Amino acid sequence: MMVCLVMSVFQAQAADPPPPPASLLSINPGTDLWREVRQRDGEIEGISQVKSPGANVLVNVSGQSWREYRMQELVPKAGAAIMIVLIIIAIFRLLRGRIMLENGRSGIKILRFSTSQRAAHWTTAILFVVLSLTGLTLLLGRKFLIPVFGAEGFSNIAVAAKFLHDYLGPVFMLALTWLFILFVRDNIPSPKLDLQWFLKGGGLFGKHVSSDRYNAGEKLWFWVASIVGLAVIISGLVLDFPIFGQTRATMEFYHWVHSVSAIILIVVSFGHIYMGTAALEATFEVMKTGYCDANWAKDHHDLWYEKVKDTGEPVSQTQAQASPAPGQRQSTEPSG
Ligand code: HEM
Repeated sequence: MMVCLVMSVFQAQAADPPPPPASLLSINPGTDLWREVRQRDGEIEGISQVKSPGANVLVNVSGQSWREYRMQELVPKAGAAIMIVLIIIAIFRLLRGRIMLENGRSGIKILRFSTSQRAAHWTTAILFVVLSLTGLTLLLGRKFLIPVFGAEGFSNIAVAAKFLHDYLGPVFMLALTWLFILFVRDNIPSPKLDLQWFLKGGGLFGKHVSSDRYNAGEKLWFWVASIVGLAVIISGLVLDFPIFGQTRATMEFYHWVHSVSAIILIVVSFGHIYMGTAALEATFEVMKTGYCDANWAKDHHDLWYEKVKDTGEPVSQTQAQASPAPGQRQSTEPSG
């Protein structure tokens, strides 16, 4: 009896649904107007006094698709690429530890970089780091910085980041050109030697592989920095100076090129920065002072060492005291 009663109530509800709220029944008078406006995108001439491309477009439909693509694909993929490369470097560190000089320091230093080479390197590197940090703030900041600094705090950070990013971009172009001119000569590929280096994984997991002034890994970084750097610079200039008739579609395309090429450059730079600092003993000092230890040159650039070994000079007493002798050296290589 009870069941029949419940069933009849349900049947009555199914047959006679409640009327929708009045607000849904009335048609929005603006709907047709805005549909018209969206559809005539770019067709109307002479409506605006402003003559720049797209000035007469009231609703930029493709802008919405670009915004969705940026928030739903570009930002998560960029974040994932950064995380993946950091994890790979951490695994490499766990497997290989810090790579020490095979026979400790020799007490002989050899000139490897001139003052102008170091100046070009550090100018480019500092600009690169500032541009990367400000660029990542603009790309990923909403997701990662708003929870920490709040919306208003992030807004101030983003304004400062954009200012630095916009003005330092063109300076980076000059610095990278300077670096390219000073370093290109020794980064010309030597196909046989470089292929061997790659096939043997750069000797990172086994026997040392012969290399001249720069090994194939360094050359690869040089060319990635130069070619992908050029893409970042050209696209950056298009975005920085939107006064040459660029349409919204052009700006969206170059925005995409700029973000993707910058992320490629940033993740590859993690490898270079790790190798130049924490990975290999006595490497950072080479770009810092311009001099390398003779044993460092033997370990990492044997063919170059053979050419320059006679130019070596003894390290001063103070520098020698700062560097422990082979017997006192503490390896951070993992056991096993
Ligand atoms: C910001 C952190 C960076 C650090 C700590 C760093 C460190 C180093 C070190 C220690 C070397 C010497 C390696 C050797 O003598 O074999 C080196 C070389 C070099 N670095 Fe960097 N670097 C940094 C950023 C950059 C950036 C951003 C670029 C370019 C955009 C760059 C381009 C180069 C080039 C071209 C060389 C010479 C090797 C070659 O030509 O292949 N570096 N770096």
